[in-house]
Amino acid sequence: MINPPCRLRCAYQVNPLGVAPDRVRFSWALAAGGSGGQHAYQIRIAPGEQLGDGGHLSWDTGRVESPRCTDVPYEGSALDPGARYTWSVRVWEGGEEPSAWSDPAFFEVELDNSAGWQASWIGLGRIRTVAQPPTAPGPYDGVVKALPPSPYLRREFYVPGAVTSARLHITALGLYEARLNGGRVGDSVLAPGWTDYGQRVQYQTYDVTSLVREGANVLGAIVADGWYSGFVGFDAKRAGAMYGDAPELLAQLVISLTDRSRLTVVTDDGWRAAFGAIRHADLLMGERHDLGMELSGWDSPGFDGSSWMPVRCKPRGTVRLVADPGPQVRVIEQVPAVSLTTDSSGRYIADFGQNLSGWVRLHYNGAAGTHIRVRHAEVLDADGSLYVDNLRSARQTDEYITAEGPAALEPRFTLHGFRYAEISGCDRLDRSALTAQVVHSDIAVTGSFESSESWLNRLFTTIDWGQRGNFISVPTDCPQRDERLGWLGDAQIFARTASYNRDVAAFFAKWLDDIDDARLPSGAFPDIAPRLNLTWGGAPAWADGGVIIPWTLYLMYGDRGNLERHYGAMTEWMDFVERGNPEFIRNYELGNSYNDWLAPGDDLTPPELLATAYWAYDAELMSQIAQLLGRPDDAVEYQALRSKIDAAFTDAFVATDGSIASGSQTAYALGLHMNLIPEDLRATAAGHLVAAIEAAGWSLTTGFVGVGYLLPVLSSTGYTDIAYRLLCQNAYPSWRYMLDHGATTIWERWNGWTPERGFQSPWMNSFNHYALGSLGEWLYRFVLGIEPAPGSNAFDRLVLRPHPGGGLTFARGAYESVRGSIRSAWKQGSGRFSLAVELPPGVTASVRVPSADASSVRDEDGRAPQSVAEYPGALGAAEAVFEAGAGRHEFTGPALD
Ligand code: BGC
Repeated sequence: MINPPCRLRCAYQVNPLGVAPDRVRFSWALAAGGSGGQHAYQIRIAPGEQLGDGGHLSWDTGRVESPRCTDVPYEGSALDPGARYTWSVRVWEGGEEPSAWSDPAFFEVELDNSAGWQASWIGLGRIRTVAQPPTAPGPYDGVVKALPPSPYLRREFYVPGAVTSARLHITALGLYEARLNGGRVGDSVLAPGWTDYGQRVQYQTYDVTSLVREGANVLGAIVADGWYSGFVGFDAKRAGAMYGDAPELLAQLVISLTDRSRLTVVTDDGWRAAFGAIRHADLLMGERHDLGMELSGWDSPGFDGSSWMPVRCKPRGTVRLVADPGPQVRVIEQVPAVSLTTDSSGRYIADFGQNLSGWVRLHYNGAAGTHIRVRHAEVLDADGSLYVDNLRSARQTDEYITAEGPAALEPRFTLHGFRYAEISGCDRLDRSALTAQVVHSDIAVTGSFESSESWLNRLFTTIDWGQRGNFISVPTDCPQRDERLGWLGDAQIFARTASYNRDVAAFFAKWLDDIDDARLPSGAFPDIAPRLNLTWGGAPAWADGGVIIPWTLYLMYGDRGNLERHYGAMTEWMDFVERGNPEFIRNYELGNSYNDWLAPGDDLTPPELLATAYWAYDAELMSQIAQLLGRPDDAVEYQALRSKIDAAFTDAFVATDGSIASGSQTAYALGLHMNLIPEDLRATAAGHLVAAIEAAGWSLTTGFVGVGYLLPVLSSTGYTDIAYRLLCQNAYPSWRYMLDHGATTIWERWNGWTPERGFQSPWMNSFNHYALGSLGEWLYRFVLGIEPAPGSNAFDRLVLRPHPGGGLTFARGAYESVRGSIRSAWKQGSGRFSLAVELPPGVTASVRVPSADASSVRDEDGRAPQSVAEYPGALGAAEAVFEAGAGRHEFTGPALD
């Protein structure tokens, strides 16, 4: 019998406890040992904990003739809000006999937005520590004195019998940490995450069955300002003006008892509040704890809360409460300090060896009443002290006044971007007392890469650390200064790299809703989401992310759900651009037009060229999306639009010799990547691009936008050697230049630091901005050759074509696709090239082995290639073509010359 399917996911999550009915979509992978690919499947779903024989089913698909195993939407009877459903799937591969049923998986449905909630918002309203929060950041002490302490909220309740199950549904306007009977609920931090709180608030659901007990119980939470009422973005005011002026909590604990009765505990006016150790907590400024003020035992029964204040309570209102589509933010890793030294003023400086996002945890065992201050920075100044000018008004400082006994000092409601920490106030400190807690959205690793060059391996991890440092509820530009905003331009150019590196399907699906919430009345996609009170939108390469990101998710995960969900928004966007640009050159409605942001050098790309190229790209993608969604008329219309933009583009920007206006590298990269250059001029245009690179001293001159396409375009036009030349370049501007100057995350600017002028302007100089790391996709798609075939679905078919070069003697890596692990490993030496590939069940590939003598390449069984073709990676070279299915395969032949 065929092994049952595995890796069952609902809405890209494993057994999620809250899924909106319209997000219930299933995927699974085929187990090893099958006979070569699914041709039919059957899903069965039943309410409750079991899928017993003969019980009531909410959905039985019966046998569906289809190879589809990703993104299968639920189409059964209406799902009950709050209820649990169990599901299982079996498949047919090859013959008529089905596999065994998979192990059951489950999901629980989002609560009904109105009838499902009995809870009210509770809090203490705006708290004074000084009369007014400052409107501009001043010296540190002035800023933080104005910050309010964090309210602790508690409610005692009695459970009259034994508990069979308990669920806590909880959220905050602001941030919360939930407590139940003296323990922490769950392990997420910075919950509920960032959304436009005026429109949509996420809540989390925790299984707290083991924490609730018969008898007296206490449910509690600490709340903090977070994105809701703290400092956020680069507007140096607290966000009060944008969302609200004090945090509030909303919680509903549903307990089922053995006698089948139910008890519901909700936030209401029966709750009480007090202030404890957390004297202030702010995402940008940091946190202050006075441990002597801790309310020990406050979250357990028996604590005397009679002196606690009543809470302000207000009805739930009309804001949409949605189940968190995941992934939650967590402490993902702990990094020990690699050194502890002192600076010229005698303060301790800890180096964690890695620029990261999170905070420092300090184990302290000294005198009570000691005032310890921990400041954070990405880099050090020449004298060994922290360099903090580039943080702008973000203070990134945590303070503790210690109490009796040993303690692990760490904040709870803040986030710092740092590699170094300065610790002052304690006279003795050991390096082993310090760890950096790495905090980000829990996006699983899906990509790996290794080569014979250690600097290249470092570059790979540097790109990944940049993603880790910024994928925190939304994809931010940077995690340290007073900005940390979800810029669409950065995200769209990096989206492909991001989704090879890590599983970002659920992460981006959530953010696409943020983008939707941030759309402008004109139909323009925003430049930033959530967009706070900013009305910036429509910027080329930024706003276009509204089309490109859902498309990228389709490409990587086979996700049609997002395409359907946001199709309306995308068409409104296309209408908006066309309305403003009837001549088919995108000259108008460019918003802030950041163009090829931070491109070094003088060969600036004309903004209308970049804008028009993106418009053409959108039109092309929209035509494919419409086709996929079964809207052939729209597809034809977008194709017609595309042709008009093509014609206008060629007319305006492409000369008869294949040169493109301005001659910038980015202009060529866009023109070639977006297929805007007539076929017969492609080769000459690629030649012009190489000439432009040579004229720049074999350096790149691309900014945020062009950089993402440059290497892929070079490799697909026969210039992999030039792509490697740029990759291996270590003179400024280059990725290696960053590495050689200490980068452990990708810098915002090519010249963040130079020997000639030191640090760039502190007003814009982040050392952790992932955008220039968008070359990551080239490592997977070209160096390893893990590339989906045109028209394929979530890697069901690949064109596996490695691109050796750059003096590498080997490169190997993998991509954990939704169908399983795809591996590619090649090595070359002594004139021989060999390639090993591994494909998961149900995946086929056309494997292309570049060779000086393609017809003499052999597979592991000595078989000759099915055919020999022109190798697009190097001019005039050939490749051996083999057809491969699931399993491991090896190919060997003469190396390319
Ligand atoms: C951000 C960028 C962003 C840009 C817009 C900057 O302040 O840090 O990453 O894309 O503004 O050009």
